[in-house]
Amino acid sequence: MVPIIVINFKTYETATGKKAVELAKIIEEFVGKADVIVCPQFTDLKAIADAVKIPVFAQHIDPVKFGSNTGHILPESVKDAGCFGTLINHAERRLDMKTIAACIERAKYVGLTTICCAPTIEDAKTVSAYKPDYIAFEEPSLISSGKSISKTEPDAVKEFAEAISKTSSIPLCGAGVSNGEDVRAAIDLGTKGVLLASAVTKAVNPRTVMEDLVSLI
Ligand code: G3P
Repeated sequence: MVPIIVINFKTYETATGKKAVELAKIIEEFVGKADVIVCPQFTDLKAIADAVKIPVFAQHIDPVKFGSNTGHILPESVKDAGCFGTLINHAERRLDMKTIAACIERAKYVGLTTICCAPTIEDAKTVSAYKPDYIAFEEPSLISSGKSISKTEPDAVKEFAEAISKTSSIPLCGAGVSNGEDVRAAIDLGTKGVLLASAVTKAVNPRTVMEDLVSLI
C-alpha cells in the first residue's frame, strides 16, 4: 500500500487560482508512487476537480444544511463541486469538539471522506469516537517550520499511530514534512501518510520536491 501524501494549498499565492490548477496537475503526475490528495481553497475546488483525477479535498466545511445560512461552507456544495473529501479542525481552522462531531456527521451524510486534524494525542483519541476516516496528528508549533514532526517528535508520532490504529480511523501526521526522509520516518513510525503544505506550495520547483517526497517510499 503506497503512502498517502496530502498537500494543503492553504492560501499561498503560488497555490491560488490558475497557479493552483497548474500545481494540482504537477502533483497528479505522482499518482501510483503515492496516494496524492490536494486541498485547494474553496474558490478553486471545482476548477481543480474538473482538471485532475486525483482526490480533491476542501480545507474545511461547516455543519450546516440547505437553508438560511450566510458565509458558511455547505457540505453538499463541496460534494457538488466534485470533491472527494474535506479536512476538519485544521490547526489554522480550529473547531470545538461538538462542531467537529457535527462536521463529521454532515460529511458522512453527503459522502465526503474526512481527514480530522488533532494537535494532541488526547484530542486524537477523543475525535476517534466520531469515526473520521483519517486522523492527522499535527503539532501546531511545527507547521511551516520545515522541522518534520516525524523527526522532531518520533515518540509522540509512534504513540499516536499505535493509539489510532486501534480505532476505525487511519493515522496520518503532518507539520514540517519537507522531504523523502520525513515521509519514510512517518511510515516507519506507523502512520499511513503525511499532510504537508509549504514544502510543495512554496517550492521554486514543486516537481523536484514531489520527486524527493516519494523517493524513499
Ligand atoms: O495541513 C498541513 C500543514 O498544516 C503543514 O504545513 O507548511 O508545515 O507543511 P507545513
